Amino acid sequence: MQDCRRILITGGAGFIGVNFVRQLLADEPDVTVVNLDALTYAGNLASLADCLQHPRHRFVRGNIGNSELVRHVIREHKIDGIINFAAESHVDRSIAAPGVFVDTNVGGTLNLLAAAREAGVRRFLQVSTDEVYGSLGAEGFFTETTPLSPNSPYSASKAGADHLVHAFHHTFGMDTVITRCSNNYGAYQFPEKLIPLMIKRALADEPLPVYGDGSNVRDWIHVSDHCRAIWAVFAKGAPGEVYNVGGNSERTNLQVVKTILALLDKPESLISFVKDRLGHDLRYAIDASKMKEELGWTPQVPFDEGIRRTIDWYLANGDWVAQVASGEYQKYFEEMYGTRGAAE
Ligand code: NAD
Ligand code: TYD
Repeated sequence: MQDCRRILITGGAGFIGVNFVRQLLADEPDVTVVNLDALTYAGNLASLADCLQHPRHRFVRGNIGNSELVRHVIREHKIDGIINFAAESHVDRSIAAPGVFVDTNVGGTLNLLAAAREAGVRRFLQVSTDEVYGSLGAEGFFTETTPLSPNSPYSASKAGADHLVHAFHHTFGMDTVITRCSNNYGAYQFPEKLIPLMIKRALADEPLPVYGDGSNVRDWIHVSDHCRAIWAVFAKGAPGEVYNVGGNSERTNLQVVKTILALLDKPESLISFVKDRLGHDLRYAIDASKMKEELGWTPQVPFDEGIRRTIDWYLANGDWVAQVASGEYQKYFEEMYGTRGAAE
């Protein structure tokens, strides 16, 4: 059982990080969070508005690849644990421009590992993805022993980071753990990923671009279940281990899009089949039995309930969607914090 109480969260202004920070502040009254995020297009301080004044949350704007800054933050705040969410996370962007994926996901993770080792940080959790395993056919599941076989520049960069995390455990004896989760959905997801993009476009009566024939399968998990899993692994996972996290909710993309249209009472004629993604992985599906057997974790939010809640959130938060989609959040940030931001 790890007992880190001063935790550096990286990427805590992005989709999963924001949900995790909120959950942690609510559930763990003696944990202090330092939140380091570069605020790329995907990071949005408006998502953290009600946390910014929280006495146990400190936001620092900065790049995980900046070794001086990372070392300073770890020292200054006496960090004893790190959870690394920060990443470039969108497969389509990685196909268009892979370089920044290697810089952040590989180089940034290496920098964090080196700084953590130097400072004697007690535990390092790497938030990884099931996409490092590659693609499944119609049958079977990814287990923790499935060989890594990433297919996209995004998943290749995440696999590179996983190898480095393993290497720091094996070579230097660092206490590391890795989570590999399936596709998340929920509040605060940037509207470039399938579910929020389809909700946004359906609400505007715009065509919904489904790649190929829509038969690709993802295993959807509500972000709150993923966040609980990350905390369980951070608190109780065995050093050097990998834990697969999944929602046990496989759906074809077409099923997901039709569900959204039905819940929004919009016609299926909005569906537009478009050119397939290059190298599109067919199917991801997770065997999460290790999480259940070793850490007592199982997903709690059924897809039908989670997708309803998610749609309700997007309906109630049109301003947030408009803001992040327009880049306005950057202006908001500068106005609130000045060009230097909140970085010390
Ligand atoms: P996201 O794109 O919504 O957020 C990423 C955050 O990282 C943003 O706030 C961004 O500003 C920040 N960031 C990017 N580059 C940075 C840098 N160099 N330095 C500091 N901060 C930087 O991503 P997400 O969906 O919240 O994913 C979080 C993590 O979970 C990622 O590591 C991703 O690979 C992993 N993951 C995501 C999913 C999913 O379905 N979204 C599934 C499994 C694993
Ligand atoms: P995405 O949300 O980008 O996640 P990932 O590629 O990491 O699984 O995409 C989920 C699935 O939806 C994937 O099979 C690609 C597909 N997709 C579309 O059909 N249309 C779209 O506009 C997007 C963004 C994704």
